[in-house]
Amino acid sequence: MRLLVCGGAGFIGSNFVRQRLARTADEIVVLDKLTYAGRRESLRDVEDERRFAFIHGAIEDANAVAGAIAGADAVVNFAAETHVDRSIAEPDAFVRTHALGTYVLLEAARECGVRYLQVSTDEVYGSIEAGSFSERSPLEPSSPYSATKAGADLLVAAYQRTYGLEVLICRGSNNYGPYQYPEKLIPLMILNALHGDPLPVYGDGLNVRNWLFVEDFAAGISHVLEHGVPGEIYNVGGPDECDNLTVVRRIVELTGADPSLIEFVTDRPGHDRRYSLSSDKVAALGWRAGTRFDEGLERTVAWYRDNAWWWEPIRSGAYRDYYERQYYRRLAD
Ligand code: NAD
Ligand code: TYD
Repeated sequence: MRLLVCGGAGFIGSNFVRQRLARTADEIVVLDKLTYAGRRESLRDVEDERRFAFIHGAIEDANAVAGAIAGADAVVNFAAETHVDRSIAEPDAFVRTHALGTYVLLEAARECGVRYLQVSTDEVYGSIEAGSFSERSPLEPSSPYSATKAGADLLVAAYQRTYGLEVLICRGSNNYGPYQYPEKLIPLMILNALHGDPLPVYGDGLNVRNWLFVEDFAAGISHVLEHGVPGEIYNVGGPDECDNLTVVRRIVELTGADPSLIEFVTDRPGHDRRYSLSSDKVAALGWRAGTRFDEGLERTVAWYRDNAWWWEPIRSGAYRDYYERQYYRRLAD
């Protein structure tokens, strides 16, 4: 296949591109705006591959998209603003990329008659105290991030119903693993633990997430791309649920950090208590996540320990300003 992968310089997109190039004969074009979270470094080991090409551009730019989609058999759209805390502070880019960007991509896919897979999130369902969300659960997003992702999903589904475009939607649970920007819980805690910095746990630390190793999500998306029924939504969840405090304590153990670095700080507004996905539908297609959380977390800690070249420029750059804005007052209280 010839794939257009939007947002392929981000965390999950770069893992997906690396995996597809290794496991298939695909030709891949990445279109990426290179926001603070998009990094060519994350694709360093595939840059010289002749089946790979990179285009610097935004999904909301119709000209860039028209050039990138030419000759493609399918579009896989990872491009997004992805951090809930940033969406609370500055929702603007979330609305533009998720609403306008998804629309521009869908129009281009419709014009070229190209299959379209939207990478989405369990956060569109909101929070669940007990049990798990199925694909038929109502959409009750809590944050500007999840609300704009839900809007994008609805637009994608409308393009199948209205125009007959072949679309697929994959709703993943919380991912972790190599190349994740250290604003998200797991890489932030690993790097802070390695540096002896405070480990800021929001609220009581008992919020629960359904953890999915990134290579499993990449494989799940490939499976849906190849075997999914057009027009269908597939939940792609991880095998284990865990509360945040347990995750952070495990990172403290794995890094040998001082447990007294753990600090309870002011909670996130609208903080979803628990996410939990039923992945029965994708399991019926013949796929399930293989990596248990304990094993994946160990591999992730080892990767960050061994790959300072990747995260050192982030920690010393504009990330510091974000970190100060997000945590200075919380940690001072
Ligand atoms: P990320 O923030 O690491 O990467 C996003 C990528 O998209 C970056 O390379 C960025 O430069 C690019 N991008 C942003 N806006 C763009 C635009 N307007 N045009 C072109 N490129 C743009 O995100 P991620 O964690 O890799 O998430 C990828 C996708 O998976 C997102 O759609 C997200 O909603 C979804 N998802 C993420 C998780 C998770 O736990 N990280 C879980 C489920 C679903
Ligand atoms: P995050 O990685 O931002 O993912 P999401 O909010 O999309 O699930 O956060 C995961 C959980 O960790 C969430 O319950 C918020 C919590 N959290 C902290 O307690 N401290 C932190 O510094 C961060 C970034 C997150």
